[in-house]
Amino acid sequence: MRHRNGNDLRWSDVTDKSVWLNRRQLIAGAAAVGVAGPAVASITAAPSPLSTQEKPNTFEEITSYNNFYEFGTGKEDPAEYASALTVDPWSVQIDGLVDKPGSYPLDDILKGVSLEERIYRFRCVEAWAMVIPWIGFPLSALLDRVGVQSGAKYVAFETLLRPEEMRGQRSAILDWPYREGLRLDEAMNPLTILATGLYGEEMPKQNGAPIRLVVPWKYGFKSIKSIVKISLVARQPETTWNIMGPDEYGFYANVNPEVDHPRWSQASERRIGAGLFSSRQQTVLFNGYGDQVAGLYKGMNLAKFY
Ligand code: MTE
Repeated sequence: MRHRNGNDLRWSDVTDKSVWLNRRQLIAGAAAVGVAGPAVASITAAPSPLSTQEKPNTFEEITSYNNFYEFGTGKEDPAEYASALTVDPWSVQIDGLVDKPGSYPLDDILKGVSLEERIYRFRCVEAWAMVIPWIGFPLSALLDRVGVQSGAKYVAFETLLRPEEMRGQRSAILDWPYREGLRLDEAMNPLTILATGLYGEEMPKQNGAPIRLVVPWKYGFKSIKSIVKISLVARQPETTWNIMGPDEYGFYANVNPEVDHPRWSQASERRIGAGLFSSRQQTVLFNGYGDQVAGLYKGMNLAKFY
């Protein structure tokens, strides 16, 4: 574990849950009456009914145990090396089957949306899980703005390619840049967000600053970080992990306790921070979001369309 110096205390280190909840209400209240939030808040965001009631992991847990292969394959590598990434200026190229293609500066993207706090369950294909209080907005809001054309059936995403700053990209551990994709109706689902922060703060670099996808009913590898390109396309796009291991990492990758990874069971999961001796918990189909998303897969064999 990386050690911090004494001046490096984060807000979550000194704030307990009741204060956090209180602060969320303050922020929401302030947003409602149109005044600036309290001085500690770097981002104001309204709470969402789509949030889980489960207790979020700590800021420390969420930002020190990561997968971000652009910075190395170890869980602690992103926290150690992601500081090298320049995230300002940042633009997202939006192209393909859209009415208004172009290179959109991040500020411009954010001007058109209202940020919400979404506390989501997050389940990695490796069978660890967390609960994360994201700040973000529905991907559909952005897609509506650029105008999706009728031929578009899928959305493809790409992460930044910058080996000078992303040391993991200097070796061919993955086929860079990292790419992911969703079916258009999955992308338009209200649960699917582009996140720009967590715990009321700007997105930490190790978590995919300045803007990443979060799709809470799918395995975490679908939630691509540090996005620079979004393309509306007619055919199912190639995706990084699916190219790496087609039998191990499907395009759909919906959380499913009954479809095991070829090398391990998906029936249960380990909640990060639950303690060494706490028991694993049962994996839930669609990571608990079945009410909102099961309809997307009606008639599909979930084992085949893994
Ligand atoms: N996005 C990029 N660009 N590179 C990655 O290596 N890892 C994925 C996903 N998005 C990854 C990525 C995986 S496997 C997981 S589990 C989540 O990011 C982890 O997100 P977190 O570190 O914020 O918890």
